[in-house]
Amino acid sequence: MTNGRFLSLEGGEGAGKSTQARALAAALEARGRSAIVTREPGGSEGAEAIRALLMQGDAARWSAATEALLFAAARADHVEKVIRPAIAAGQWVICDRYVDSTRAYQGVAGGMDDAAILSLHDFGSGGLLPDRTYLLELPVAAGAARATERDGVAADRFAARDVAFHAAVAGAFDRIAAREPARFRRIDAARPAEDVTRAILADLEEWLA
Ligand code: TYD
Repeated sequence: MTNGRFLSLEGGEGAGKSTQARALAAALEARGRSAIVTREPGGSEGAEAIRALLMQGDAARWSAATEALLFAAARADHVEKVIRPAIAAGQWVICDRYVDSTRAYQGVAGGMDDAAILSLHDFGSGGLLPDRTYLLELPVAAGAARATERDGVAADRFAARDVAFHAAVAGAFDRIAAREPARFRRIDAARPAEDVTRAILADLEEWLA
């Protein structure tokens, strides 16, 4: 049995994370690897129930601290029930958003301290980090246009926030990636989807050989 791997895809709205997750899984399967696609918030039965609490209602429904706890609780269930068992079974796990989204969104939206978010992650999920995280980079305006085309206007509590918020989230992802160069790879997501997939696969070659 080959080793399981854990990959996450991060970035703003409309960057193409879900499309890339599916394309990567198909490419990995074609290379003889077993791959699963999952997402956050959600990905397990319990975490999907928490997702509904997080995504519905008005922007002020939860305080920043409560929101961070809900994301951490959802992630703990997802890691325990889905991610760790899949990796242990030798599968490749491709996760559409993970803890770096909490660091970026709740860090920016609620001024949550990065160390506090990481300590919740240690407590809930044993601090599990991906082997590699792809940051799909796209100008905020382009991402907003793609997301509106896909979801309509003001699709959920997070997508409804303004351009300044999304620009701040992009800045936060940028800083997080700069601090962890071994785990992060920046991917230009303004290209056609097939080119983005090819760039990610080229980076994964070392583990596929
Ligand atoms: P979703 O519809 O899954 O999004 P997208 O297509 O944008 O990836 O919405 C998830 C939303 O939740 C998104 O706006 C980002 C936000 N989010 C956080 O604020 N913190 C988190 O930890 C995660 C995982 C997501």
